[in-house]
Amino acid sequence: MIEFEKIADQLADVGYAIVPDFISEEEANALYHYVESLEQGFWHLAGVGREQQHTVNTHVRSDEICWLTQRTEQEMFWLDRMEQLRESVNRYLFMGLFDYECHFARYAPGSRYQKHLDAFKGRSNRVLSTILYLNPDWQPENGGELVIYGERGKVLETVLPKQGCFVVFLSDRFVHEVKVSNRLRYSLTGWFRHNTSTGFRIDPAR
Ligand code: OGA
Ligand code: MN
Repeated sequence: MIEFEKIADQLADVGYAIVPDFISEEEANALYHYVESLEQGFWHLAGVGREQQHTVNTHVRSDEICWLTQRTEQEMFWLDRMEQLRESVNRYLFMGLFDYECHFARYAPGSRYQKHLDAFKGRSNRVLSTILYLNPDWQPENGGELVIYGERGKVLETVLPKQGCFVVFLSDRFVHEVKVSNRLRYSLTGWFRHNTSTGFRIDPAR
């Protein structure tokens, strides 16, 4: 609980938080083995933009993704953990987070994701972005760093995607990018959303 409070504090202070060992090594390894064992048919190229604007542009991003839909033990573990975070953040910050969507991502060697925002003010209901890294023994020469930018392109953080490290930030505030990865790189990326459902239509998750 203390950990979730700390994350909420940092979100209030600077708009993001980086937690090196958010889950135990055992939990991280279980997720890593799970994602590694997902068959090729589960993966597809990631797109840019949503719904009608959704296009695949491998120049901007060349990772492949797999949405969590199977409700396996490993997926439930992560969804439960994020539910706890959602409750804490709502309690401490009154953010009104409604639900959570997430996918595994894998970057083949040579892949990257150029500078982008996960949400545009007023045009998306994505409020908080989360990333959990899964590869054991990630070394600096493996690349694939997450770079978080602040005002006027200033680098705020460069994060090596080390196993168990968790990053959370306000989706419409921080431009960020994934540098070219030199090794197969696995992460678990998600977004907490506001409820924008209308009387007859729930906003689609993807
Ligand atoms: C994303 C993203 C960052 C990362 O999927 O939108 O920015 O480090 N991922 O995997
Ligand atoms: Mn992003």
